[in-house]
Amino acid sequence: MADEATTDYARIGGGDAVRQVVGRFYEMVLADPELAGYFTGVDLPKLKRHQALLISQVLGGPAEYDGRDLKAAHRGMAISKDHFGRVVVHLVAALREAGVPEDVIGRVGQALGGTEADIVEG
Ligand code: HEM
Repeated sequence: MADEATTDYARIGGGDAVRQVVGRFYEMVLADPELAGYFTGVDLPKLKRHQALLISQVLGGPAEYDGRDLKAAHRGMAISKDHFGRVVVHLVAALREAGVPEDVIGRVGQALGGTEADIVEG
């Protein structure tokens, strides 16, 4: 039985699990012809590190996100609601593939899905 101190981060396997999910997530995003163009010329190792920190923080892990605020990071990209939705679908698929429990996926989806107003400009 999970005690009160067990975070989602610990439940899913900590930093290694988060890095695995993030790696798979960007594989899916970059393989999506609707999305790949946004990432041309982007420093992917840095992006993955920041995304892993953000997800770890959302999961209650020890990491603290130290990237730009999400509104500033996505400003001027004209990201549509549809493209935002596709990114969330890939993230959920990567979490599921890694065997992350559905209740945890729901909380991650809620937290990151909630950033839509900062990211979508279209
Ligand atoms: C769940 C929604 C999303 C979250 C949580 C998210 C999170 C992030 C984070 C943490 C960064 C790194 C910022 C930094 O390094 O300072 C980033 C960068 C970026 N995101 Fe997103 N993002 C989301 C949706 C999207 C969508 C929908 C697109 C495009 C279709 C997108 C395209 C990009 C690009 C191109 C960068 C790199 C910007 C740069 O380094 O200049 N993101 N995002």
